[in-house]
Amino acid sequence: MAETMPKHIAVIMDGNGRWAAARGLSRSQGHLAGVEAVRTLVRECRTMGIPYVTVYAFSRENWQRPKTEVSFLFDLFLRFIREELPELLRQDIRLAFMGEKSDLPFAVRQVMQLAESKTAGCASMTLTIALNYAGREEILSAVRRAVADGVPADSLTDERLRSYMYAPWLPDPDLIIRTSGELRLSNFLLYQGAYSELYFSDVLWPDFGPAELQEALRSYASRTRRFGKTDAQIQSGE
Ligand code: FPP
Repeated sequence: MAETMPKHIAVIMDGNGRWAAARGLSRSQGHLAGVEAVRTLVRECRTMGIPYVTVYAFSRENWQRPKTEVSFLFDLFLRFIREELPELLRQDIRLAFMGEKSDLPFAVRQVMQLAESKTAGCASMTLTIALNYAGREEILSAVRRAVADGVPADSLTDERLRSYMYAPWLPDPDLIIRTSGELRLSNFLLYQGAYSELYFSDVLWPDFGPAELQEALRSYASRTRRFGKTDAQIQSGE
């Protein structure tokens, strides 16, 4: 039987700026509205029993944005993690991060570590925030570290390579959603997303609510995931 519900949904949250511009608001207000959409997504997925949700909050390329926007975003992440912690614990949600931690502001790293350790025992769902993340760099640094560890070339299996990545315990995403009508992966989960179903929505991230999520899940449920096999093999459960 094909799985009709994804176990892991990953989201490229795009369109906060355009959402704000369309309303004559600042980009910051767009990001604030984006946070509300994250809260809604987490609540809905938790209710539906989806065990893994990953959101792309800040890419390594995002450092190129104006300094004021970058520092606003980091303040926002800091506040979100602090404010959300009691609620995550109440809902038994583990908070995890993936990305290059070393060049993040100290205060952000501190609160990330606190949230990760406090929620480490939560088992109903895992929310992973991709922060300062870039897929190519993740692969490259995993290879570099494996080489530095002296892993022989013929021992560098898929599993071994993954063990050097940011979140080896995280299952591959079944479904990757991108909002705002852009049709790109933008360096997100390049290795892990090899067989992910892709869903693109024209809706801007702050407007992506329960109805849009249901639409994405309906689309996912209607697809046949072949993983390289034929239809006949899939039907016979091979
Ligand atoms: C994309 O919109 C959004 C971002 C780069 C930042 C994502 C951040 C949030 C949704 C805020 C909260 C997240 C967490 C986890 C607390 P954009 O600025 O690229 O929009 P645009 O393409 O319309 O300009």
